Amino acid sequence: MADSQTYDPASSAKLDAVTFVGQPLDRLDGVAKVTGQAKYAYEHQAGPSASVGFIVEASIARGRILALDATLAERAPGVRLVMTHLNVPKQAAFGPPAALNRNARARPVLVDAEIHYFGQPIALVVADSFEEARAAATLVHARYDRQHAAVILEDNLDHAYRPERVGPGFAPDTAVGDFEGAFAAAPVRVDASYDNAYQNHNPLEPHAALAQWDGDALTAYVSQQNLAAAQAALAATLQIAPEKVHLISRYIGGGFGSKLPINTEIVLAALAARVLGRPVKVALTRQQMFSNTGHRPAFRQRVRLGAERDGHLVAIAHEVWGQTARFEEFAEQTATFTRSLYAAPNRMTRHRLVPLDLQHGETMRAPGEAPGLLAFESAMDELATALEIDPVELRLRNEPALDPELQIPFSSRCLATCLREGARRFGWDQRPKSPRSRREGRQLIGFGMSAGIRPNKIARSSARATLRADGGVTARLDMTDIGTGSYTILTQVAADAMGVRPAAITIELGNSDFPETTGSGGSLGAGSSCSAVYNACVALREQVAQAVTADPRSPLHRAATSAMVFRDGRAMVDNVSESLSDIGARTPGLSAIGTIEPGDTYRRYSQFSYAAYFAEVQVDMDTAEVRARRMLGVFDAGRILNAKTARSQLLGGLVWGLSAALYEEGVIDTRFGSFITRDLAGYHFAANADVPQIDIVMLDGVDHNSNPVGSKGVGELGICGSGAAIANAIFNATGIRVRSFPITLDKILVELSN
Ligand code: MOS
Repeated sequence: MADSQTYDPASSAKLDAVTFVGQPLDRLDGVAKVTGQAKYAYEHQAGPSASVGFIVEASIARGRILALDATLAERAPGVRLVMTHLNVPKQAAFGPPAALNRNARARPVLVDAEIHYFGQPIALVVADSFEEARAAATLVHARYDRQHAAVILEDNLDHAYRPERVGPGFAPDTAVGDFEGAFAAAPVRVDASYDNAYQNHNPLEPHAALAQWDGDALTAYVSQQNLAAAQAALAATLQIAPEKVHLISRYIGGGFGSKLPINTEIVLAALAARVLGRPVKVALTRQQMFSNTGHRPAFRQRVRLGAERDGHLVAIAHEVWGQTARFEEFAEQTATFTRSLYAAPNRMTRHRLVPLDLQHGETMRAPGEAPGLLAFESAMDELATALEIDPVELRLRNEPALDPELQIPFSSRCLATCLREGARRFGWDQRPKSPRSRREGRQLIGFGMSAGIRPNKIARSSARATLRADGGVTARLDMTDIGTGSYTILTQVAADAMGVRPAAITIELGNSDFPETTGSGGSLGAGSSCSAVYNACVALREQVAQAVTADPRSPLHRAATSAMVFRDGRAMVDNVSESLSDIGARTPGLSAIGTIEPGDTYRRYSQFSYAAYFAEVQVDMDTAEVRARRMLGVFDAGRILNAKTARSQLLGGLVWGLSAALYEEGVIDTRFGSFITRDLAGYHFAANADVPQIDIVMLDGVDHNSNPVGSKGVGELGICGSGAAIANAIFNATGIRVRSFPITLDKILVELSN
């Protein structure tokens, strides 16, 4: 059986008729989770009761450890080990460089005395209990040679440099036509700069790992989005063979990008477990989640738009300056969507990085589009105001026929439908036509909207499907379920592919021994892993067909394999059939691997998911308090695999966009170079009381240029333009354009009282 299948919609098998795919099936892991039966990494007790590690963090942002005194900590009750740069086992150097898969890099911890950011781990205290480890951690004393730390983005723009590539491999700069000339000559222009604050991802389950060695082989219960990358990264760090690393991650309490790379806790747990010869577990505290899991960097963005008076764009430029750590480059793809969003003959995008003495940036839910669209779609709203053209109409007038920079067709693009359908459902024609024109008591009311776009792709992924003796099918793959519904959608795809009910399908995930997938991330996990399972089922059907037609005991003996269909738990040719349970019982071990690989359609077509977002807000005339009153998102994400889990993803996305627009801000104490927002009280985000009624509409669609199941990425799409719709609604309510996110009330209040 060939185990490689480069996808080509013209010749590859595709999921056509569906019964269960798309249905709003309840999450199959839901009961296990709400009843506490689902075990997370930290809850596993492998072998003898595990020791517990607590990370000690640096209290300077830049400098050197001159002396580190662990003697008191070592003598504290229950302490088994204090690991520092002075006694840590040998690890590989950080790397390889950014050109390669950054999630598979070696990430050594406690390397030397150099401090690169406030909160960098300087020791791991391991004790018999968490409380003993935490208490002893306060007894570790470091003396530093403290150096000046540069921590403010705006003060360091002069030091910006151009990265080799941004995101997963995009060019940092693009140029088409003559932007400067066309912009200078444009009758209507917008030239605006926007600032985005640092943001932190904080999944409910903090980063956690439980490590145990058996000789030279490591088994670790982890909370990782991509097991194959984590396995490679851990093996590289520890300088052992990847097959000596076995990772298990069956349930994950959220990741949002922060669990794509390996993090300090897993490396430290593995090192300490090896030193002690016993299982060690390490979880980050909530405070440590803010200093040691990577953040969404702060950005300065400049958007320039030049248009004819009829609204047609003639020139588009989107320039980005983002923070990167000095010790690890992180280059977000903040302006890359601008290359494909609107038509205009003259265009330019540019990304620059500003090295600062802060922790490293990391992929965070809609990396690029979330901050990028907040700025860019605000600028589009500014242009609509300048042109006196309706913001929906302005976007419709700039719909491109082809990808505007690549000049290739779109695989599917229903942005115009999203915009029109959204406007109709939201009652956009009721929008206050001029800012500050609608009041209810002391509340100013405004409507805002935004477009959204997010790259759609798949990555090589495999799965094994096996026919069980009871006629059910088990599929195994190293895919993860980070709370998004992977178990459920994979079950639906396998059920339709095999012609059985979902109850006959068992999906096993989260084990690095299983066939490799791209994991959960980048909105490509569902399409990739569902396609792998689909292809595995197609291959299994072929195996079943071969087996029964060759078997004299089967009623299908000598039937035509090409005519065989799978329906109602039976294999059938014309009016002859046999149940899968009879086949499975008689022929145990029928099993096949299916693989999906992106093919030529990702070169021939421009592939994105699209959305339109609408928001109504009220702004208090006296306090400038902003309340969202209602929101709507309309989405083009190809075939929806599960109407309930997809809706949840999108709903959460709109909430996140709202949160980014109004609340989320990592605040730096410039005296120490530390973030002072270090818990879920100080770091403000949207709570339920901040969230209005939100309506989610998913357009019908199947995109077979994308993958065999016809889906496009949905995971991060909800966030993309959600914040800009809020920002634009605030302008419509007040006439005040705030270009610094989050739009906290102080920024509105200054102008509101004028
Ligand atoms: Mo997402 S930032 O790829 O988890």
